[in-house]
Amino acid sequence: MPKLFDKIKLRDVEIRNRTIVSPMCMYSATDGILNDFHLVHIGKFALGGAGLIFIEATGVSPEGRITHGDSGLWNDDQIEPLKRIVDFMKAHNTTPGIQLAHAGRKASTQRPWEGGGALTEKEIAIGEKPWATVGPSAIAFDPSWVVPKAMDERDMEKVKNDFVAAAKRALKAGFEVVEMHNAHGYLLQSFLSPIANRREDNFGGSLDNRMRFPLEVAQALRDTWPADKPMFVRVSSIDGVEGGFSIEDAIAYAKELKKIGVDVIDCSSGGQPGKTTIHPDFGYQVPYAKAIREQADIKTAAVGLIVEAHQAQKIIEDGEADFVALAREALNEPFWFLHAQQELGQVDEKNSYSDWPQQYSFWLDKRKHTLDRLNSKPKVEALQK
Ligand SMILES: Cc1cc2nc3c(=O)[nH]c(=O)nc-3n(C[C@H](O)[C@H](O)[C@H](O)COP(=O)(O)O)c2cc1C
Repeated sequence: MPKLFDKIKLRDVEIRNRTIVSPMCMYSATDGILNDFHLVHIGKFALGGAGLIFIEATGVSPEGRITHGDSGLWNDDQIEPLKRIVDFMKAHNTTPGIQLAHAGRKASTQRPWEGGGALTEKEIAIGEKPWATVGPSAIAFDPSWVVPKAMDERDMEKVKNDFVAAAKRALKAGFEVVEMHNAHGYLLQSFLSPIANRREDNFGGSLDNRMRFPLEVAQALRDTWPADKPMFVRVSSIDGVEGGFSIEDAIAYAKELKKIGVDVIDCSSGGQPGKTTIHPDFGYQVPYAKAIREQADIKTAAVGLIVEAHQAQKIIEDGEADFVALAREALNEPFWFLHAQQELGQVDEKNSYSDWPQQYSFWLDKRKHTLDRLNSKPKVEALQK
């Protein structure tokens, strides 16, 4: 069976191992443009040995952002700052990926640390005005949030074109992997979910109808993204709300995505309002990655409270998923990947730091030999004297 730090090839793209840094919004861009913070933030994970890093949910249009601070790719000025980060990732042997997104009825909100709710007078006073949102039906995510416009076919065409245009810009920035954000209650997932989608036309009702628009977007994206580069789709494997999207629905959807040429399903969950059945525990979403992998016969990524090297290795070795993605654990320890590789013994016997950045490995190997020789750590009492 493959191991966590074995290489993997998707189409013509070789990824140095099966670890992923999951997309994480930093809500720190200006007009969708990334800055030095993002270079350092992503750069740490590239130095830290991650195989594939996804840049955070990147709005395909201004109205598709969650907050005013989201990353965006709706104009050409946004390409160069992304390219700078992509170049850094490539220089450090990490595969650059980008998640393209439209927030739908969950757009136009505060940053999480500002409350995460509808924009208030406080944000409006500093120029962060709310905007009109769109969704499958005119039902607000929360009574205090903007009521979305129920999309007509022209709105759908626009979103599709926005995804295509953003993908073309992502290519110019040098990305190797694209991920369509189809999870967490944002636009494309809200079409799939019977909780958010109450349409009575060809885009609502049966699962076939609810899948229609997200599949059209996926097809347009696949047609745009070069045949030698892989495409991921992040799904909410279940809504986890009574009457919501189920794992059986997700398997049926993954089978359709496979026909389009999607390479990997990134298996998350949740995002619709209501009493949830989802109770996060270590690896709680792994069973979805396993079920989709087995029953739709497609590669999957597992994510959610994967924190230990051996836990991650077992997911790969047991064939539950083809990739393991980390979010908060990577924030906590950007060098998690290189440390995990050492812990699992998938390293050069002579210098277990040889996969570390060249600027570090020489010194860390020396440090190890010195510590081994001393065979102890300084005693706290001695240091306090
Ligand atoms: C700060 C932060 C930002 C996130 N932003 C995104 C995002 O842009 N797109 C997405 O699909 N998921 C996003 N997520 C969810 C993570 O990608 C991941 O699925 C989730 O945190 C579970 O993994 P973990 O237990 O390793 O943190 C975010 C999570 C965090 C903590």
